[in-house]
Amino acid sequence: MSQFQDAGVVVTGAGGGIGAALARRFAAGGARVVVNDLDAQKIKAIADETGATAVAGDASAIVEEAREALGGTVDVYCANAGLASPGDAFADEAVWAAAWDVNVMAHVRAARALLPGWLERGSGRFVSTVSAAGLLSMVGAAPYSVSKHGALAFAEWLSLTYRHRGVKVHAICPQGVRTDMLTAAGSAGELVLAPTAV
Ligand SMILES: NC(=O)c1ccc[n+]([C@@H]2O[C@H](COP(=O)([O-])OP(=O)(O)OC[C@H]3O[C@@H](n4cnc5c(N)ncnc54)[C@H](O)[C@@H]3O)[C@@H](O)[C@H]2O)c1
Repeated sequence: MSQFQDAGVVVTGAGGGIGAALARRFAAGGARVVVNDLDAQKIKAIADETGATAVAGDASAIVEEAREALGGTVDVYCANAGLASPGDAFADEAVWAAAWDVNVMAHVRAARALLPGWLERGSGRFVSTVSAAGLLSMVGAAPYSVSKHGALAFAEWLSLTYRHRGVKVHAICPQGVRTDMLTAAGSAGELVLAPTAV
């Protein structure tokens, strides 16, 4: 039996790509899955395919609705929604702010909503889809690289602060993955990531 049989799992940004793959895998392992995305149509298609419950909207504010859909407990939370956020130091303030909001603060806001219950129960898993850009950097994408370093820093901080109280934290740090985000990365993505993308 899968270790995730009957677990309550939330995956944000699951309308396609890595999030949809996570949702499919958890659902195949018998988990009860909530899929989230800004794109309500995409998320409905993944929910129909996997038997998951769709919760459309901003990943920053869906924990309560997801928890209710799962009968009161979230066992695994996958903070996967992300923005590619290209540009250099001169990128618009709005691009920097959006990268920070989705790639970092959505994780912080989810943790705020999840931690009280997890600490009371003594268990919970936070899975952060970071990026190799959070360990290294991404050519042509300063807001992405900086915010992904922030996401990794937050995941490490969560782990060192709450590990002894039963909270397990995972950080996924791939290089290229063949998703809509890689396609949208244009020539830099093609040059640097596409040849070795999984
Ligand atoms: N594709 C790659 O090469 C690659 C490599 C490393 C890390 N990543 C990371 O993987 C994660 C998933 O990206 P992907 O490659 O599957 O791309 P993708 O574009 O297929 O998926 C990202 C999804 O997030 C959704 N989203 C964006 N902002 C949101 C928000 N505020 N609330 C809810 N949903 C939102 C989008 O609608 C989209 O469906 C991202 O965090 C990305 O940074 C991707």
